Amino acid sequence: MFLKKNQKNTSPNKSLRITRRVERSQIINFEFNNQLISAHQGETIAIALLANEIRTLSYNAANKTGSGLFCAMGVCQQCLVKINEQNYEACRTHVMPDMKVYSVNFNNE
Ligand code: FES
Repeated sequence: MFLKKNQKNTSPNKSLRITRRVERSQIINFEFNNQLISAHQGETIAIALLANEIRTLSYNAANKTGSGLFCAMGVCQQCLVKINEQNYEACRTHVMPDMKVYSVNFNNE
């Protein structure tokens, strides 16, 4: 299902994932900015957040709307998130059960 810009997903499972004819791995949970997020084992943080309609991953002074997934291959650094006080590319980092992930706010650093 494709959603138009500003259109909210009203499906019961609140996920943008394709559900028909796809077998998914085990569901795991992690936290993003203290919000519980469900993901499938093997997904990257960026894809798990995108599937849950979370697109803003970091903030900086130049981009007041925040930044998120852009190249999806570890080149642009637009998807940086903080895990254990270190920055990681969300598009190249797999979710792990119970991990705590936070937005990077370059305005505060
Ligand atoms: S989206 Fe470009 S590095 Fe992650």
